[in-house]
Amino acid sequence: MTSLPITSPGSWVFSGDVPAVFVDHARHSVPLYDAGHDLVCDLSTCFLGGDQPRVGYELGSATGQLLRRLAGHGPANAATHWIGVDREAAMVEAAREHCAGLGNVEVVAGDLTEIAFQPCDFVVAYLTMHFLPPGQRRQVLRRICQALRPGGAFFMFDKVLAPGAQLEDLITTLHYRFKRNAGLSPEEILDKKESLLGVLRPVSTDDNLTVFEEAGFTSYGTILKYLAFEGFIAIK
Ligand SMILES: C[S@@+](CC[C@H](N)C(=O)[O-])C[C@H]1O[C@@H](n2cnc3c(N)ncnc32)[C@H](O)[C@@H]1O
Repeated sequence: MTSLPITSPGSWVFSGDVPAVFVDHARHSVPLYDAGHDLVCDLSTCFLGGDQPRVGYELGSATGQLLRRLAGHGPANAATHWIGVDREAAMVEAAREHCAGLGNVEVVAGDLTEIAFQPCDFVVAYLTMHFLPPGQRRQVLRRICQALRPGGAFFMFDKVLAPGAQLEDLITTLHYRFKRNAGLSPEEILDKKESLLGVLRPVSTDDNLTVFEEAGFTSYGTILKYLAFEGFIAIK
């Protein structure tokens, strides 16, 4: 597989050459990367449709892989206006290219901690929220909940911390094995780990659920999980 340009601790970025190799890398590093996209597309149809114009967001849309699938997943999704948001110019450019020709997709360059959300019906953050420090994560989730119309939903797929050191150690070991089996070398695995130091900010499942409650969601829980990767649904 194509390698990522990783150099030193805490150096992880989504700019430069990363967009060109991102999806390939995600498939080799993240269990359920594509299965989670399948689930999100299916799930989105439960919150879209009807006579009203609908709005959906993908936050941290990266290369637009999921955004393109969401925008074309059946008639209700095709009638929805989809907004991808990413703060990396190179990712915004890649997503615009990947979604070119789709009239219902807009890709916006912006930071989640700063953008104003439109009233919306379905919001996805797929492998994105774990890059926000906890205080910013709370603030962004509150604003997502405020922007969602009643009955609208937020789906989040994030890396989470295990409940306790022993489980964390076991899950990390199994995740390394997953990466080795997918073809990554030990050096690539360690380099990635170093580069994400202080950049990836996972919290526990319980902390995520508390933040959903504080943000104002009425119904929330886990609907997908494999090792440290967990998909949550939160309904307003
Ligand atoms: C792992 S990628 C997302 C992958 C993508 N959702 C998918 O399913 O293929 C995370 C993305 O979030 C973006 N990102 C991280 N923090 C952000 C923030 N505060 N505001 C906007 N984008 C952010 C990064 O630039 C990156 O493109």
